[in-house]
Amino acid sequence: MEILNTRRSIRKYTDRPVEDELLVQMLEAAMNAPTARNLQEWKFIVIKNKELQAKIAEALPNTHMSAHAGACIVVLGDKTIQPKDEYIYVDCGAAIENLLLEAHSLGLGCCWCAVGPNEDRIAPLRDLLNIDGHLVPVANIAVGWPNEEKEANHRYDEQKVSWIKE
Ligand SMILES: Cc1cc2nc3c(=O)[nH]c(=O)nc-3n(C[C@H](O)[C@H](O)[C@H](O)COP(=O)(O)O)c2cc1C
Repeated sequence: MEILNTRRSIRKYTDRPVEDELLVQMLEAAMNAPTARNLQEWKFIVIKNKELQAKIAEALPNTHMSAHAGACIVVLGDKTIQPKDEYIYVDCGAAIENLLLEAHSLGLGCCWCAVGPNEDRIAPLRDLLNIDGHLVPVANIAVGWPNEEKEANHRYDEQKVSWIKE
């Protein structure tokens, strides 16, 4: 619960590089997430190239932090493995949350930036990264060593819960 409650979206990063080993650990966490029919249709593009990151930040709205991140991880779903977009979004979402929590437990900060289903984000990202049509880009995750501190979340709201007993 400590890791769950203290994870926040981090949009400011120091210049300290993010080691590949830590990114692999995050990807391991992502790929341990559940998927419908256990299809594991996710794909990941890891970007450690400041020039390309700046282009992503410029081309996609609300992703300005990508330019200064230690890395960006683009999460995609393969339609040849899972043809339904709805499942791709749910499955990739579960993987992304695992990845964010593992990053936070390592002391890293991340910001989950939506790509799909917004066409104005999908199209420029396809161009920049040469993404094939059978791959659905779901999100771009900026990762870095945090340069901001945020309060823990306490969002439990009993009004949002109904109980059915017997
Ligand atoms: C599907 C999804 C899309 C998001 N897209 C963006 C985005 O494009 N840019 C951004 O800065 N934050 C984005 N966020 C982060 C949310 O703004 C953030 O999770 C929310 O404000 C709650 O803050 P917290 O993560 O610190 O708890 C996104 C989060 C989710 C789950």
